[in-house]
Amino acid sequence: MKTIFSGIQPSGILTLGNYLGAMKHFVPLQDEFNCYFCIVDQHAITVPQDPAALRENIRRLAALYLAVGLDPEKVTLFIQSEVPAHAKLGWIMLCTSYVGELERMTQYKDKSQGRGESIPAGLLAYPPLMAADILLYGTHYVPVGEDQKQHLELTRDLAIRFNKRYGEIFTIPEIRVAEVGARIMSLQDGTKKMSKSDPNQGAYISMLDEPDTIAKKIKRAQTDSDNAVRYDKQNKPAISNLLTIYSLCSGKSLEELEEMYAGKGYGVFKTDLAEVVIETLRPIQDRYHQLIDSPELDAILTAGAEKANRVANQMLHKVEKAMGMARL
Ligand code: TYM
Repeated sequence: MKTIFSGIQPSGILTLGNYLGAMKHFVPLQDEFNCYFCIVDQHAITVPQDPAALRENIRRLAALYLAVGLDPEKVTLFIQSEVPAHAKLGWIMLCTSYVGELERMTQYKDKSQGRGESIPAGLLAYPPLMAADILLYGTHYVPVGEDQKQHLELTRDLAIRFNKRYGEIFTIPEIRVAEVGARIMSLQDGTKKMSKSDPNQGAYISMLDEPDTIAKKIKRAQTDSDNAVRYDKQNKPAISNLLTIYSLCSGKSLEELEEMYAGKGYGVFKTDLAEVVIETLRPIQDRYHQLIDSPELDAILTAGAEKANRVANQMLHKVEKAMGMARL
Protein backbone atom coordinates (compact mmCIF):
# COMPACT_ATOMS: atom_id res chain seq x y z
CA MET A 1 0.00 0.00 0.00
CA LYS A 2 1.41 3.42 -0.93
CA THR A 3 1.79 6.17 1.63
CA ILE A 4 0.18 9.61 1.84
CA PHE A 5 1.33 12.43 4.10
CA SER A 6 -0.17 15.87 4.54
CA GLY A 7 -0.09 18.56 7.19
CA ILE A 8 -2.06 21.62 8.22
CA GLN A 9 -0.93 24.46 10.46
CA PRO A 10 -2.92 25.12 13.62
CA SER A 11 -2.38 28.84 13.16
CA GLY A 12 -6.03 29.88 13.21
CA ILE A 13 -9.41 28.43 12.39
CA LEU A 14 -9.37 26.62 9.08
CA THR A 15 -10.98 28.24 6.09
CA LEU A 16 -13.19 26.97 3.33
CA GLY A 17 -10.00 27.17 1.21
CA ASN A 18 -8.24 24.64 3.47
CA TYR A 19 -11.29 22.42 3.25
CA LEU A 20 -11.90 22.55 -0.50
CA GLY A 21 -8.21 22.62 -1.46
CA ALA A 22 -6.96 19.94 0.92
CA MET A 23 -9.07 18.30 3.63
CA LYS A 24 -12.00 17.29 1.44
CA HIS A 25 -9.60 15.30 -0.76
CA PHE A 26 -8.07 13.47 2.20
CA VAL A 27 -11.28 11.60 2.95
CA PRO A 28 -11.47 9.24 -0.07
CA LEU A 29 -7.71 8.62 0.14
CA GLN A 30 -8.01 6.87 3.50
CA ASP A 31 -9.51 3.78 1.86
CA GLU A 32 -6.74 3.40 -0.68
CA PHE A 33 -3.55 4.50 1.05
CA ASN A 34 -1.58 4.31 4.26
CA CYS A 35 -2.32 7.88 5.42
CA TYR A 36 -0.57 10.19 7.87
CA PHE A 37 -2.22 13.51 8.71
CA CYS A 38 -0.33 15.91 10.87
CA ILE A 39 -1.07 18.99 12.96
CA VAL A 40 2.10 20.90 12.20
CA ASP A 41 2.47 23.03 15.32
CA GLN A 42 6.22 23.41 14.80
CA HIS A 43 5.46 25.13 11.51
CA ALA A 44 2.94 27.41 13.18
CA ILE A 45 5.57 28.76 15.61
CA THR A 46 7.69 30.14 12.76
CA VAL A 47 5.71 33.28 13.58
CA PRO A 48 4.88 34.10 17.21
CA GLN A 49 1.74 32.38 18.55
CA ASP A 50 -0.23 33.10 21.68
CA PRO A 51 0.17 29.94 23.84
CA ALA A 52 -3.50 29.65 24.86
CA ALA A 53 -4.66 30.23 21.29
CA LEU A 54 -2.18 27.71 19.88
CA ARG A 55 -3.27 25.07 22.39
CA GLU A 56 -6.89 25.63 21.40
CA ASN A 57 -6.16 25.67 17.68
CA ILE A 58 -4.27 22.38 17.87
CA ARG A 59 -7.28 20.72 19.47
CA ARG A 60 -9.70 22.35 17.06
CA LEU A 61 -7.70 21.15 14.10
CA ALA A 62 -7.63 17.60 15.48
CA ALA A 63 -11.42 17.69 15.86
CA LEU A 64 -11.85 19.10 12.35
CA TYR A 65 -9.69 16.41 10.76
CA LEU A 66 -12.08 13.84 12.23
CA ALA A 67 -15.21 15.90 11.63
CA VAL A 68 -14.64 16.00 7.86
CA GLY A 69 -14.75 12.21 7.86
CA LEU A 70 -11.29 10.85 8.56
CA ASP A 71 -11.47 7.57 10.46
CA PRO A 72 -8.81 7.10 13.16
CA GLU A 73 -9.00 3.36 12.53
CA LYS A 74 -7.74 3.98 9.02
CA VAL A 75 -5.44 7.00 9.28
CA THR A 76 -2.68 8.10 11.63
CA LEU A 77 -3.53 11.52 13.05
CA PHE A 78 -0.89 13.18 15.21
CA ILE A 79 0.72 16.35 16.49
CA GLN A 80 4.12 17.15 14.96
CA SER A 81 5.80 18.24 18.20
CA GLU A 82 4.92 14.88 19.80
CA VAL A 83 7.16 13.14 17.28
CA PRO A 84 10.69 14.51 17.89
CA ALA A 85 12.06 12.86 14.74
CA HIS A 86 10.50 15.73 12.73
CA ALA A 87 12.71 18.36 14.35
CA LYS A 88 15.75 16.09 14.14
CA LEU A 89 15.35 15.30 10.46
CA GLY A 90 14.34 18.94 9.93
CA TRP A 91 17.81 19.97 11.07
CA ILE A 92 19.42 17.47 8.72
CA MET A 93 17.29 18.74 5.84
CA LEU A 94 18.24 22.31 6.73
CA CYS A 95 21.88 21.26 6.51
CA THR A 96 21.09 19.73 3.10
CA SER A 97 19.60 23.03 1.81
CA TYR A 98 21.24 26.07 0.28
CA VAL A 99 20.40 29.56 1.57
CA GLY A 100 19.75 30.73 -2.00
CA GLU A 101 17.06 28.15 -2.70
CA LEU A 102 15.35 28.89 0.62
CA GLU A 103 15.38 32.63 -0.07
CA ARG A 104 13.70 31.99 -3.42
CA MET A 105 10.57 30.46 -1.82
CA THR A 106 7.64 32.77 -2.56
CA GLN A 107 6.00 32.06 0.78
CA TYR A 108 9.21 33.15 2.53
CA LYS A 109 9.33 36.31 0.43
CA ASP A 110 5.66 37.12 1.17
CA LYS A 111 5.84 36.42 4.89
CA SER A 112 9.12 38.21 5.47
CA GLN A 113 8.01 41.39 3.72
CA GLY A 114 7.91 44.52 5.85
CA ARG A 115 9.69 42.90 8.81
CA GLY A 116 13.01 44.67 8.23
CA GLU A 117 15.75 43.20 10.42
CA SER A 118 13.28 41.09 12.38
CA ILE A 119 12.48 38.29 9.96
CA PRO A 120 12.08 35.15 12.08
CA ALA A 121 14.76 32.66 10.99
CA GLY A 122 12.13 29.93 11.24
CA LEU A 123 10.40 31.34 8.16
CA LEU A 124 13.51 30.59 6.13
CA ALA A 125 14.01 27.17 7.73
CA TYR A 126 10.36 26.21 7.24
CA PRO A 127 10.57 24.25 3.94
CA PRO A 128 13.34 21.86 5.12
CA LEU A 129 11.16 20.99 8.13
CA MET A 130 8.28 20.34 5.75
CA ALA A 131 10.59 18.11 3.69
CA ALA A 132 11.43 16.18 6.86
CA ASP A 133 7.71 15.71 7.66
CA ILE A 134 7.15 14.10 4.30
CA LEU A 135 10.37 12.08 3.97
CA LEU A 136 10.16 10.46 7.41
CA TYR A 137 7.26 8.25 6.32
CA GLY A 138 8.51 7.07 2.92
CA THR A 139 5.68 9.14 1.44
CA HIS A 140 4.65 8.54 -2.17
CA TYR A 141 1.98 11.24 -2.55
CA VAL A 142 1.36 14.58 -0.86
CA PRO A 143 -2.15 16.01 -1.32
CA VAL A 144 -1.99 19.81 -0.91
CA GLY A 145 -3.31 23.06 -2.37
CA GLU A 146 -1.44 24.82 -5.14
CA ASP A 147 0.38 27.20 -2.78
CA GLN A 148 2.51 24.29 -1.51
CA LYS A 149 3.80 23.29 -4.96
CA GLN A 150 7.13 25.09 -4.61
CA HIS A 151 7.76 23.53 -1.18
CA LEU A 152 7.10 20.10 -2.67
CA GLU A 153 9.55 20.71 -5.49
CA LEU A 154 12.18 21.68 -2.92
CA THR A 155 11.38 18.53 -0.91
CA ARG A 156 12.04 16.43 -3.99
CA ASP A 157 15.30 18.30 -4.71
CA LEU A 158 16.51 17.78 -1.13
CA ALA A 159 15.60 14.09 -1.16
CA ILE A 160 17.41 13.55 -4.45
CA ARG A 161 20.47 15.50 -3.21
CA PHE A 162 20.55 13.49 0.01
CA ASN A 163 20.18 10.16 -1.79
CA LYS A 164 23.04 11.05 -4.14
CA ARG A 165 25.33 11.68 -1.17
CA TYR A 166 24.30 8.89 1.14
CA GLY A 167 22.51 6.19 -0.87
CA GLU A 168 18.88 5.44 -1.72
CA ILE A 169 17.31 6.29 1.63
CA PHE A 170 14.33 8.49 0.75
CA THR A 171 11.33 7.83 -1.45
CA ILE A 172 10.89 10.77 -3.83
CA PRO A 173 7.38 12.09 -3.13
CA GLU A 174 4.91 13.36 -5.70
CA ILE A 175 2.51 16.24 -5.26
CA ARG A 176 -1.24 15.68 -5.67
CA VAL A 177 -3.13 18.87 -6.39
CA ALA A 178 -6.89 18.93 -7.00
CA GLU A 179 -7.93 19.84 -10.53
CA VAL A 180 -10.53 22.28 -9.25
CA GLY A 181 -10.28 24.25 -6.01
CA ALA A 182 -6.53 23.96 -5.50
CA ARG A 183 -6.50 27.70 -5.04
CA ILE A 184 -9.63 29.19 -3.48
CA MET A 185 -9.37 32.97 -3.55
CA SER A 186 -10.20 35.67 -1.02
CA LEU A 187 -13.84 36.84 -1.00
CA GLN A 188 -12.57 40.41 -1.04
CA ASP A 189 -9.94 40.08 -3.75
CA GLY A 190 -10.29 37.47 -6.47
CA THR A 191 -6.57 37.63 -7.22
CA LYS A 192 -5.40 36.81 -3.68
CA LYS A 193 -5.47 33.41 -1.95
CA MET A 194 -8.07 32.83 0.78
CA SER A 195 -6.00 32.65 3.97
CA LYS A 196 -6.71 32.04 7.65
CA SER A 197 -4.20 34.74 8.54
CA ASP A 198 -5.96 37.46 6.50
CA PRO A 199 -6.56 40.42 8.83
CA ASN A 200 -9.90 41.07 7.10
CA GLN A 201 -12.33 38.43 8.37
CA GLY A 202 -14.67 39.16 5.49
CA ALA A 203 -12.04 37.75 3.14
CA TYR A 204 -12.53 34.17 4.25
CA ILE A 205 -15.16 31.75 5.44
CA SER A 206 -14.06 29.81 8.48
CA MET A 207 -15.11 26.18 8.69
CA LEU A 208 -16.71 27.04 12.02
CA ASP A 209 -18.54 30.22 10.98
CA GLU A 210 -22.22 30.41 11.97
CA PRO A 211 -24.75 30.24 9.12
CA ASP A 212 -25.60 33.95 9.50
CA THR A 213 -21.96 34.92 9.27
CA ILE A 214 -21.46 32.79 6.16
CA ALA A 215 -24.50 34.37 4.50
CA LYS A 216 -23.26 37.87 5.35
CA LYS A 217 -19.75 37.23 4.09
CA ILE A 218 -21.01 35.81 0.80
CA LYS A 219 -23.46 38.67 0.37
CA ARG A 220 -20.61 41.15 0.80
CA ALA A 221 -18.17 39.19 -1.35
CA GLN A 222 -16.56 41.10 -4.18
CA THR A 223 -18.10 40.57 -7.62
CA ASP A 224 -17.03 41.73 -11.06
CA SER A 225 -18.40 44.68 -12.99
CA ASP A 226 -21.10 43.15 -15.22
CA ASN A 227 -23.96 41.22 -13.62
CA ALA A 228 -23.38 37.91 -15.46
CA VAL A 229 -22.75 34.65 -13.59
CA ARG A 230 -20.10 33.35 -15.95
CA TYR A 231 -16.79 31.54 -15.37
CA ASP A 232 -13.87 33.56 -16.75
CA LYS A 233 -10.84 33.35 -14.49
CA GLN A 234 -8.89 36.02 -16.36
CA ASN A 235 -11.50 38.74 -16.61
CA LYS A 236 -13.94 37.80 -13.85
CA PRO A 237 -11.77 36.35 -11.07
CA ALA A 238 -14.20 37.12 -8.22
CA ILE A 239 -17.29 35.47 -9.69
CA SER A 240 -15.18 32.61 -11.06
CA ASN A 241 -13.98 31.92 -7.52
CA LEU A 242 -17.56 31.91 -6.19
CA LEU A 243 -18.58 29.57 -9.00
CA THR A 244 -15.71 27.22 -8.11
CA ILE A 245 -16.82 27.18 -4.47
CA TYR A 246 -20.44 26.54 -5.53
CA SER A 247 -19.38 23.73 -7.86
CA LEU A 248 -17.22 21.98 -5.24
CA CYS A 249 -19.85 22.26 -2.52
CA SER A 250 -22.80 21.16 -4.69
CA GLY A 251 -21.19 18.67 -7.06
CA LYS A 252 -22.70 20.60 -10.02
CA SER A 253 -20.40 21.43 -12.93
CA LEU A 254 -19.48 25.01 -13.80
CA GLU A 255 -21.48 24.72 -17.05
CA GLU A 256 -24.57 23.53 -15.18
CA LEU A 257 -24.28 26.46 -12.80
CA GLU A 258 -23.83 28.99 -15.61
CA GLU A 259 -26.98 27.63 -17.21
CA MET A 260 -28.92 27.70 -13.94
CA TYR A 261 -28.06 31.35 -13.34
CA ALA A 262 -28.18 32.68 -16.90
CA GLY A 263 -29.89 36.08 -16.80
CA LYS A 264 -30.46 35.89 -13.03
CA GLY A 265 -27.73 38.20 -11.71
CA TYR A 266 -25.48 38.06 -8.69
CA GLY A 267 -28.11 38.51 -5.95
CA VAL A 268 -29.97 35.22 -6.48
CA PHE A 269 -26.70 33.41 -7.13
CA LYS A 270 -25.18 34.59 -3.86
CA THR A 271 -28.27 33.67 -1.82
CA ASP A 272 -28.17 30.13 -3.20
CA LEU A 273 -24.40 29.88 -2.81
CA ALA A 274 -24.68 30.82 0.86
CA GLU A 275 -27.22 28.04 1.37
CA VAL A 276 -24.99 25.49 -0.37
CA VAL A 277 -21.92 26.46 1.71
CA ILE A 278 -23.93 26.43 4.96
CA GLU A 279 -25.28 22.94 4.17
CA THR A 280 -21.79 21.68 3.26
CA LEU A 281 -20.34 22.84 6.57
CA ARG A 282 -23.34 21.95 8.77
CA PRO A 283 -22.63 18.20 9.23
CA ILE A 284 -18.91 18.93 9.75
CA GLN A 285 -19.73 21.53 12.40
CA ASP A 286 -22.20 19.20 14.14
CA ARG A 287 -19.62 16.46 14.39
CA TYR A 288 -16.95 18.95 15.42
CA HIS A 289 -19.06 20.06 18.40
CA GLN A 290 -19.51 16.45 19.50
CA LEU A 291 -15.78 15.82 19.32
CA ILE A 292 -14.13 18.93 20.65
CA ASP A 293 -14.54 18.16 24.36
CA SER A 294 -14.47 14.40 24.16
CA PRO A 295 -11.65 12.40 25.76
CA GLU A 296 -11.78 10.22 22.63
CA LEU A 297 -9.87 12.96 20.85
CA ASP A 298 -6.91 12.71 23.25
CA ALA A 299 -6.82 8.94 22.94
CA ILE A 300 -6.74 9.21 19.14
CA LEU A 301 -3.87 11.72 19.23
CA THR A 302 -1.90 9.61 21.70
CA ALA A 303 -2.28 6.48 19.58
CA GLY A 304 -1.40 8.50 16.46
CA ALA A 305 1.80 9.84 18.03
CA GLU A 306 2.83 6.34 19.10
CA LYS A 307 2.46 4.94 15.61
CA ALA A 308 4.12 7.97 13.99
CA ASN A 309 7.05 7.79 16.43
CA ARG A 310 7.58 4.14 15.62
CA VAL A 311 7.70 4.68 11.87
CA ALA A 312 9.57 7.99 11.96
CA ASN A 313 12.28 6.75 14.34
CA GLN A 314 13.09 3.88 12.01
CA MET A 315 13.65 6.27 9.12
CA LEU A 316 15.62 8.69 11.27
CA HIS A 317 17.88 5.87 12.38
CA LYS A 318 18.47 4.83 8.77
CA VAL A 319 19.37 8.42 7.88
CA GLU A 320 21.71 8.93 10.84
CA LYS A 321 23.38 5.62 10.16
CA ALA A 322 23.96 6.53 6.51
CA MET A 323 25.47 9.86 7.60
CA GLY A 324 27.75 8.33 10.22
CA MET A 325 25.88 9.74 13.21
CA ALA A 326 24.40 6.58 14.71
CA ARG A 327 26.53 3.92 16.34
CA LEU A 328 26.15 0.69 14.41
P1 TYM B 1 -1.54 25.44 5.46
O1 TYM B 1 -1.78 25.16 6.88
O2 TYM B 1 -1.32 26.85 5.04
O3 TYM B 1 -2.76 24.88 4.59
C1 TYM B 1 -3.24 23.56 4.74
C2 TYM B 1 -3.67 23.00 3.39
O4 TYM B 1 -4.67 23.83 2.81
C3 TYM B 1 -4.28 24.23 1.50
N1 TYM B 1 -4.78 25.60 1.28
C4 TYM B 1 -5.57 25.95 0.26
N2 TYM B 1 -6.06 25.25 -0.77
C5 TYM B 1 -6.85 25.92 -1.65
N3 TYM B 1 -7.14 27.24 -1.56
C6 TYM B 1 -6.65 27.98 -0.53
N4 TYM B 1 -6.95 29.27 -0.43
C7 TYM B 1 -5.82 27.33 0.43
N5 TYM B 1 -5.18 27.76 1.55
C8 TYM B 1 -4.56 26.69 2.05
C9 TYM B 1 -2.76 24.20 1.53
O5 TYM B 1 -2.21 24.08 0.25
C10 TYM B 1 -2.50 22.97 2.38
O6 TYM B 1 -2.61 21.79 1.59
N6 TYM B 1 3.23 24.10 4.71
C11 TYM B 1 1.89 23.61 4.85
C12 TYM B 1 1.73 22.62 5.99
C13 TYM B 1 2.68 21.46 5.94
C14 TYM B 1 2.60 20.35 5.07
C15 TYM B 1 3.69 19.51 5.46
C16 TYM B 1 1.76 20.00 4.02
C17 TYM B 1 3.72 21.28 6.78
N7 TYM B 1 4.34 20.11 6.49
C18 TYM B 1 3.92 18.32 4.79
C19 TYM B 1 2.00 18.80 3.37
C20 TYM B 1 3.09 17.97 3.75
C21 TYM B 1 0.97 24.78 5.13
O7 TYM B 1 1.37 25.81 5.59
O8 TYM B 1 -0.37 24.52 4.90
